[in-house]
Amino acid sequence: MNRRRASAALHVAAMTLAVACGVEAQVPATGAAATGAAASGSDVMVKPYTVECGRDPEGERTQCLVDGGTYVGWRTFHAVCHVCHAQDAVGSTFAPDLLARMRTIDKATFMTSVDEGLEGQVGVMPPWRENPNVNKYYEQLWSYLLARADGVLLPGRPRRLPNPQ
Ligand code: HEC
Repeated sequence: MNRRRASAALHVAAMTLAVACGVEAQVPATGAAATGAAASGSDVMVKPYTVECGRDPEGERTQCLVDGGTYVGWRTFHAVCHVCHAQDAVGSTFAPDLLARMRTIDKATFMTSVDEGLEGQVGVMPPWRENPNVNKYYEQLWSYLLARADGVLLPGRPRRLPNPQ
């Protein structure tokens, strides 16, 4: 479903013609994408995040620790993107559940959609390329959302892992 674009080029053309609504593009099915592994081309096996979840020793809840980049992604998401995509990226009536959507797109598509914005069947996302609170953090957002979509990072506020010695 919802895999509308095979390439950034098609996306640009669709945006230019303002006919992005309902454009269906066939993305070659890959086993990696189907299983939810990072469908990011050559680095399929390499995850951009480090996440360790366990019981918070002081509380009842499970606490996740994440690398610095993933933490910045979480922070950026909950400063800007949660307004539409909701806390923890689970989606709302007017913006998609990114946990599901992330499994249908590759990294290049992610970067293009976030940078240029996206108009589709669910609604319209503005472009973020002019927003300095977002455009420096695409990699971090990718890490955070992939960790969520992979089911590795649980909902809620993560803490930073200690810096490597
Ligand atoms: C104004 C509401 C809004 C905000 C804020 C917003 N989005 Fe979106 N986003 C959308 C909508 C609507 C869609 C789905 C468009 C469609 O497919 O119909 C979407 C789609 C996406 C997709 C799927 C892209 C694809 O190619 O399928 C990603 C990834 C995404 N958003 C990431 C983000 C990130 C990261 C932020 C914060 C920088 C963000 N969004 C902020 C509304 C928003």
